[in-house]
Amino acid sequence: MNQFETKIFSPNQAGVRAAAEELLRGNVVGIPTETVYGLAANIRDEAAVYRIFETKHRPADNPLIVHISAFEQIFSVARVVYPLAKTLAEKFWPGPLTMVLPKDRSLSDAVTAGQDTVGIRMPAHPVARAIIDAAGVPLAAPSANLSGIPSPTCAEHVFDDLNGSIPCIVDGGECTVGVESTVIRVEEDRLTLLRPGGITVEQLKTVCENVTVAPGVLEHLDENAKVESPGMKYRHYSPKVPVIILDGGYEAFVSYVTRMQRQHLVGAMVFSGEGERLSCPVVTYGSKGNGASEAMGLFSALRKLDSLKVEVVYARMPAKDGVGFAVYNRLLRAAGFHVVDLREQNRSFVLGLTGKTGAGKGKVCAILKDRGFYAVDCDQTARKAVEKGSETLCRLVKAFGKGILTEAGECDRKALGRIVFSDKEKLAQLNAITHPAILKLIEDEIDYASGRGYVGICLDAPTLFESGADALCDKTVFVTADFKLRKNRILQRDALTEGEALQRMNAQKPDEFYAKRADVVFANNGEEALLAAQADQMLCALMGSEGK
Ligand code: TXA
Ligand code: MG
Repeated sequence: MNQFETKIFSPNQAGVRAAAEELLRGNVVGIPTETVYGLAANIRDEAAVYRIFETKHRPADNPLIVHISAFEQIFSVARVVYPLAKTLAEKFWPGPLTMVLPKDRSLSDAVTAGQDTVGIRMPAHPVARAIIDAAGVPLAAPSANLSGIPSPTCAEHVFDDLNGSIPCIVDGGECTVGVESTVIRVEEDRLTLLRPGGITVEQLKTVCENVTVAPGVLEHLDENAKVESPGMKYRHYSPKVPVIILDGGYEAFVSYVTRMQRQHLVGAMVFSGEGERLSCPVVTYGSKGNGASEAMGLFSALRKLDSLKVEVVYARMPAKDGVGFAVYNRLLRAAGFHVVDLREQNRSFVLGLTGKTGAGKGKVCAILKDRGFYAVDCDQTARKAVEKGSETLCRLVKAFGKGILTEAGECDRKALGRIVFSDKEKLAQLNAITHPAILKLIEDEIDYASGRGYVGICLDAPTLFESGADALCDKTVFVTADFKLRKNRILQRDALTEGEALQRMNAQKPDEFYAKRADVVFANNGEEALLAAQADQMLCALMGSEGK
């Protein structure tokens, strides 16, 4: 039954004032925030707060977030504000962070659904804060969707869900974050992550090391489970069509979806630019590996799935780091925790080769290529990860300054080397930025070669263990040779003086570092002619022992 003719207001002074008037009249109103649109009511008007639950068919035990426009307002709703909460507010407010604190007695149980805590946040969207200011009172607001449906990231989504049941929506444009706020319980010296969101765990850890992830963030909870954040247990963000996440690379995704198309009407939810090789209806949700863009596209994509008119939708696995963690959390719920692991299914045998300079790793790699292996040159991959215009290079510039760029805007590896090699912390920072990007590219290559049916893939990786690439391998090999032999080889190959050769050799880790970690130590001291036979033997032994 239509109670209202739902109006869409512009985000100007008149729109803000009209929305505030509706709020003070006891109505609920659609408002923009940077995360998702909210369905707001005056926290001091109990009947209005109950109206939120009615309007969106929200379960009565799921508490609402209180939205404020200035820090001091926190004292009117929270009983205790720990110093840690103040620090977090200074750092992340206004912004997509909700802090759960002990509630003030004056706050109605209607807002907190009977909990003795209250979730509070100061939104970054100027229109949201202007509406709170104009109303002169904090606003309780859940996301402005019908319960169970993906959250709205534009005014049109709110209209689609609530047309006729609310008087107005203020149209503040498309939400720039796209997933809801991060919800944390704040105690004196610790944080508990109740819902991942726009502020990442890594960001929180810059303020407080002690962050635990609550049960239910990544696993399924029973509807009757007693949990801290009731929102986590409900089936959420769900299109009507079943969604299944396929965990693996693009090649494996394409072949799985193509196979399933023989049996069902299939749709796909993929990253931008990935639709071309699929012959089924497709919806995209941001760029691969870019959590922020995946977050922005996620809910719109989920809302479109039902219109594909298919029986099942297969979705690409999102990036799991940074804001991607929130995307992963929402998509898992949309899929009812249904994930198929493609990694184990079609992957070629992956052999990681590492070794010190002059040991002849490249030669072993060439022999494997002769035998039909696909070779990944991880040094080259590392260079590609920081190529001009890449997100990783931007992050490096943010961390180490513009001095690490050449005039042409490329990564100046020597300048970067000078900064990090004398400073352990900076080196760790460099690795934390580059290693995940490099591993992603290596995974893409593994996926590519597996999809094309190569018998095996060898990673030529001088820093196989240091970068964590060994985790992608079925077996690892440490190629080594006697010190003198290695020295002679690099003297010949690289035209170095004896002093330079020794300096380079001594800068590397001791043999034990590699030997301890590798499945096999391959000594390359002999005749070149014998090398091929030795390599074959090793391969037989390693591939033969696979799966046993
Ligand atoms: O970004 C956002 O947070 C958006 C915009 C509108 O601000 N709001 C939003 O609200 O997502 P909602 O109601 O859809 O989600 C609030 C989540 C729920 O999972 C709820 O259980 C949890 O926050 N929550 C609220 N108050 C809580 C409390 N006192 N203790 C534990 N969890 C709480
Ligand atoms: Mg919600």
